[in-house]
Amino acid sequence: MSTLDTDRLVARHYETLPYPARNPKDEAKRLIEGSPSALPEIRHWIFGGALPAGLRVLFAGGGTGDGCIMLAQQLKDAGIAATVTHLDMSAAAQKVAAERAAVRGLDIQFVAGSLLDVERLAPGPYDYIDCCGVLHHLDAPAAGLAALRSVLARGGGMGLMVYGRIGRSGVYDVQEALRLLSPEEDAPAARLNVAKRLLPGLPATNRLRRNEAVTDHAVGGDAGIFDLLLHSRDRAYDIEGFVGLIEDGGLGVTALIEPARYQPETYLADPQLRRLATALDPRGRAMLAERLAGNIARHVAYAVHPDHEAVPPDPLEEAAVPVWSRTGPEQMIAAMGQDRVLKLVLDGLSYRFPLPQSAPAILRHVDGRATVGEIAARAKVGGFEKAWPATFAVLNGISRLFLARP
Ligand SMILES: C[S@@+](CC[C@H](N)C(=O)[O-])C[C@H]1O[C@@H](n2cnc3c(N)ncnc32)[C@H](O)[C@@H]1O
Repeated sequence: MSTLDTDRLVARHYETLPYPARNPKDEAKRLIEGSPSALPEIRHWIFGGALPAGLRVLFAGGGTGDGCIMLAQQLKDAGIAATVTHLDMSAAAQKVAAERAAVRGLDIQFVAGSLLDVERLAPGPYDYIDCCGVLHHLDAPAAGLAALRSVLARGGGMGLMVYGRIGRSGVYDVQEALRLLSPEEDAPAARLNVAKRLLPGLPATNRLRRNEAVTDHAVGGDAGIFDLLLHSRDRAYDIEGFVGLIEDGGLGVTALIEPARYQPETYLADPQLRRLATALDPRGRAMLAERLAGNIARHVAYAVHPDHEAVPPDPLEEAAVPVWSRTGPEQMIAAMGQDRVLKLVLDGLSYRFPLPQSAPAILRHVDGRATVGEIAARAKVGGFEKAWPATFAVLNGISRLFLARP
């Protein structure tokens, strides 16, 4: 199939089934939060804890608006002046995003067209660019990244997400099976019908059925099934391929999200193996972690220009303010229980992170306003200088706690 034919099928896909499926009425009930682009996360990993005045934000391939609505709402709640632009080639997706914004009273500019034409359509420049789940659908992802880089301001950064090759085990088996049963040119409704007939009866040994990290076909409705299993163009990356794409594009990675999932020690108990893993360079460490975990179905990275100066605050910086994301102290203290081991399940795997004995006594005082100096004074625990950075590292490693510089 020619590139143009595939372009046409991808465009038809997102016009027919905007992704992800969202009902604007639900905005009255809940805010969908995640990575990339949560406000505390971008402030920490890109802006050294302090946002530039008049933040300019672009969502490239913003779809039905999840990330865009989240960040615009968080900025509004925090009283931060910013301009937010949503660019997408799907009018149907933009309509949903615009209705969601209207329900919330958010001021978002909508620009229709391809991100490959961003310089002409919406030249910015931008301090922050979100491109989540889009580059891997382009004929030339590097060209897409280059187009975005051309409108990225000095000192700014990007939040990028692409599919993870290993975590998507089984997805491409079923994509290929469906292509055999239902040609790509068939109407989307006919292809969906074939997929829905196939899925319930997949053999127990089918790799998609065994993969707990991929759930879109089970929870994402028709749009989820189509995007996952009937897409005409998607490619998946292993972590070295993704980092290579970013670095070849003239950018550097400041963080892989969630950081703990890219640390081999998260998956290794044996002391000798841990020592061997520690000796690897950062690329090798991330590669090893991805191979061991097997459940990273999407890679999220923050990327900046190579001469970027801002770095996240040190956890012991007295004036820094720890800020929660998607959780709070009660929830995290409950999750670590009496044994001070934080337990959580992510994409089918149970994670266990040991914490210092004094972690709850410290975290009780982390309210999103108190500085590190104030928390130390209020918590009054011995060995704060060691216990707090260790606690912060775990919670930052799962993207729940970040630092801001007021
Ligand atoms: C998988 S959806 C992701 C949507 C959103 N970023 C999210 O994470 O929820 C991909 C989106 O990218 C858009 N898209 C694909 N190629 C594009 C391009 N060249 N320029 C602009 N948008 C594009 C599609 O229309 C679709 O809305």
